[in-house]
Amino acid sequence: QEPRGHVSIILLGATGDLAKKYLWQGLFQLYLDEAGDGHSFSFHGAALTRPEQGQLLMAQALEKLSCPSDMLPERCAQLKGQFLQLSQYRQLWTAEDYVTLSKDIEARLQQEGLQESGRIFYFSVPAFAYAEIAQHINSSCRPGPGAWLRVVLEKPFGHDRRSAQELSKELGSFFREEEMYRVDHYLGKQAVAQILPFRDRNWKALDRLWNRHHVDRVEIVMKETVDAEGRTSFYEEYGVIRDVIQNHLTEILTYVAMELPRNLSNPEELLRSKLRTFRALRSLEKGSAVLGQYQAYNEQVQRELQKPAGYMSLTPTFAGVLLQIDNLRWEGVPFILMSGKALDERVGYVRVVFKNRAYCTQSESHRDSGKSQCQPRQIIFYIGHGTLGSPAVLVSRNLFKPSLPPGSWQEIQEMPTLHLFGQQLADFHAYRPRQERDAYSVLISHIFHRRKDFFITTENLLASWDVWTPLLDSIAQEVPRQYPGGTSNEHLLDFEQEGSQVVFVQREVEQLVSGPGP
Ligand code: BG6
Repeated sequence: QEPRGHVSIILLGATGDLAKKYLWQGLFQLYLDEAGDGHSFSFHGAALTRPEQGQLLMAQALEKLSCPSDMLPERCAQLKGQFLQLSQYRQLWTAEDYVTLSKDIEARLQQEGLQESGRIFYFSVPAFAYAEIAQHINSSCRPGPGAWLRVVLEKPFGHDRRSAQELSKELGSFFREEEMYRVDHYLGKQAVAQILPFRDRNWKALDRLWNRHHVDRVEIVMKETVDAEGRTSFYEEYGVIRDVIQNHLTEILTYVAMELPRNLSNPEELLRSKLRTFRALRSLEKGSAVLGQYQAYNEQVQRELQKPAGYMSLTPTFAGVLLQIDNLRWEGVPFILMSGKALDERVGYVRVVFKNRAYCTQSESHRDSGKSQCQPRQIIFYIGHGTLGSPAVLVSRNLFKPSLPPGSWQEIQEMPTLHLFGQQLADFHAYRPRQERDAYSVLISHIFHRRKDFFITTENLLASWDVWTPLLDSIAQEVPRQYPGGTSNEHLLDFEQEGSQVVFVQREVEQLVSGPGP
């Protein structure tokens, strides 16, 4: 427990999209959660924009703040008013601006007789600006003795192993490792954050099942309906693997696959276990990925980036990748990671599918009904959207009845029908969070509480790029197959076992996307 005192939070990029959509709300939620607990706060929205314009844009973002649904409107208005009073805009550009910021914070602490706990700088700015800002913070904005500094960084964290290492080295010359919080917002999604606690809480049932003898495959899927329009300059450089698979989906994979640390609330132990999982991932080659590109992409690139007609981009907007883990627990189990833009639905989930022979005949429901055929046994961490809408944890009834923390998750009797890849799935014990929380609010609270295990350490980042860089290099000149927008790409998850080797069945994408077309 840290001593209570004053915390200054500086949001860099305070008028940008991410700030407007999520970060101000996350900061307001932090205020709601912690201010009553004796902490005192000030919020400094900062950007390059001149003060009058910046203030206006920030005020627009703050207008949208919302309170929890069970809060009385008068109380909500009162708390919002207090939050607005504590929030100020400032232009932050030159070295001198940073010096002034620090002086202003110190003056305020002195005026109000506050003791400084720490400063959080949230970098919601393009990565090319990181080094310069980091230098200014380090030279003139560190807090006084005894107070901490935390800097929060948004991806992209490099483009490959080498660039990630360079960026990390540069940041490492200004900040210590424990001061840096690299955000992967998927780690703040409620269903993702529940994977490890779920495994821990249900270890008696899962201990025997969570391995290559019983798990048939693991699917980690993030389908999007949006395309890259308006973002092609970013997307051309990154593509789907760098944008979401190297980070969001691989992080999730480690939560499924890592050895459970003895103590989940010990960040160091957890991060060590995660790192061991990264290091056990087999390196990827060209044959482990299927790449696609939606048909309208080239035309969008030509238009937005002023490329000549006929320009053909090699950037994949869809990828399915097969990963394997070289350790005793997971040897031979396919981990299939898949994501794409312009698909038929927006949905994210992790699905652990068990082999049919495991525990099927012991199931009460099947004994009663006398059925010999089992429903697939699976555990689904449903991240959101799709047919279920909000997050959920689902466990096949013929597997076991799980336990979830009753304070934050509740069992649901009536679930909407679940469809995954056109398959209707039923017979689940189903749970939903009692209160939905946005990923950024969750992560901002973790930053405040110094839960480093919800963030990407330098070692973790480089270990992930070690896995992905060889594949990215080997596919750099591959022409992705075209798919019509709005298709499901469902056949991608077909694979065959060849002896002990699992190989992707790489069909022609025309076959892969056998959907109805645009
Ligand atoms: C971001 C990617 O990290 O995640 C985007 O850069 C993607 O391309 C987004 O659309 C998806 O996040 P969410 O929370 O909307 O599923």
